[in-house]
Parts: sequence; structure tokens; C-alpha cells
Amino acid sequence: MENNAENDVIIETKDVTRIFRMGEVEVRALGGVSLKIKRGEFVAIMGSSGSGKSTFLNQLGLLDIPTSGAVIIDSVDTSKMSEKEKGNFRLHNLGYVFQDYALLPELSAIENVYLPLMMQGKSKEECQKTASLVLIAVGLEDRLNQFPSKMSGGQQQRVSIARALAHKPRVLFADEPCANLDSVASKQILELFKKFNKEEGQTIVMVTHEDWHMEYVDRIIRLKDGVLE
Ligand SMILES: Nc1ncnc2c1ncn2[C@@H]1O[C@H](COP(=O)(O)OP(=O)(O)OP(=O)(O)O)[C@@H](O)[C@H]1O
Ligand SMILES: [Mg+2]
Repeated sequence: MENNAENDVIIETKDVTRIFRMGEVEVRALGGVSLKIKRGEFVAIMGSSGSGKSTFLNQLGLLDIPTSGAVIIDSVDTSKMSEKEKGNFRLHNLGYVFQDYALLPELSAIENVYLPLMMQGKSKEECQKTASLVLIAVGLEDRLNQFPSKMSGGQQQRVSIARALAHKPRVLFADEPCANLDSVASKQILELFKKFNKEEGQTIVMVTHEDWHMEYVDRIIRLKDGVLE
């Protein structure tokens, strides 16, 4: 395959808008955002509260439907997909890390990580093996069977990162992954992202508020009132 400029683009948005309608009131959360993210890029989305960061990440990650415009991932125009196709695409191609970790409390660390792999139809042995390898990669080798309630915030967030990365997603999306962590744990999480980005070429799109996070990323995308600044 040729390695031309278009091949380097993993995500492209074309004039994406998102308008929320609540009765008579319309909120224009995104006012037409066009951009390209390269394969292997570590990108931060920044902007003040209410500027549309989460709304934009949700469009990129196919968790929401734009009011108009298109999101193209790895040359697939996702606006042409049905909800079912999108669900499948998400399961096999995308990974997510949220501010509140979103772990299942009744499952151990390793079970939280292998559940999505099981949903992809892999064998239990294969899922357990993959899950333990990623948990080791995020530094939780001695916590495989621990439950989330017995872990620190930073450890829980590392489990959620392991879960998001276990199936080697084309793109990892993270919405304020350090918001509930102190600065020491935040630094560990950012260094982990940086490691996967550098060593595995993992594409990462991360929403953040914190200026000091900028030193970890390749590029900063700034939103203001739903448009690129
Ligand atoms: N489900 C929704 N229904 C109505 N309005 C919404 C909805 N989600 C977001 N909005 C509005 O869209 C705008 C952008 O919200 P968004 O959550 O994307 O901001 P943000 O940049 O992520 O903010 P924060 O830094 O506080 O997380 C805001 O005015 C918000 O009130
Ligand atoms: Mg937000």
C-alpha cells in the first residue's frame, strides 16, 4: 500500500455540527468543525467549559450523531452506517476512557478487561491471556483479581485504559481521563498514554482542561463556542 498523505489520515471530520433542541431552545454545541487527525497522533482537545469538547469527542467516537456533516474513520464514511453497524464498528475498532472510569463494580480487574473481548466472540482462554497482558502493560500485574472498590482512582483508571486498549483499537478516545485524579496519578496516566502512543503507534484523542498536559501531546485542537479557534 502506498503511504501517501491521505493514508496517514485516520479520522477526518467534514463540517460537523451538533445542535441540541430542548423544546423551543436550540443550543449550537458544534458550529461546523472540519479537521484531520493523523495515524499515530496524540491529540488534545482543549477549550473552556461548554465549548463543545465532549460533544466533539462523542462525534469522533461515534457515540452521538452529528446534526450535519460527516465523520470518516480509516476511509469509512460513518454517516452512512446504520446504528447496528456503528455499534459493531465501535466494538471492534474504537476504545474509550472516561472521567469516571466506568468499571463494573461486581467484576474484578481482569474480568472488566476481558468482558468486551468476550463480546467479540473470542475464547475465554484467549480473552484472559490478552487481558492479563494488557493489565501487566499498565503496571497492574499484582492487581489482576482485585475489585474496583479496593483500588485507588489511578489504578481504576489504569484498568479502564487496559480495557480500552485490549483489542488494539484504531483510535483511543479519552474524555478528561485525569479529572478525578491527583497530580501524581494524572502524571502516571499521561505517561502511560505517551508510552502506548510512542511504542505501539496508538492514535489517541484526549479532552483535557489542564495546561500542563500539553507537554505530552503532539498537537492541541482548541475549541471555542463550538468552532475551532
Ligand atoms: N445532551 C445535551 N442536551 C442539551 N445541551 C447539551 C447536551 N450536551 C451538551 N449540551 C450543550 O452543548 C454545549 C457544549 O457542551 P459540552 O459538554 O460539549 O462542553 P465541554 O466543552 O465538554 O464542557 P466541560 O468542559 O464542562 O465538560 C454546552 O452549551 C452544553 O450545555
Ligand atoms: Mg466535557
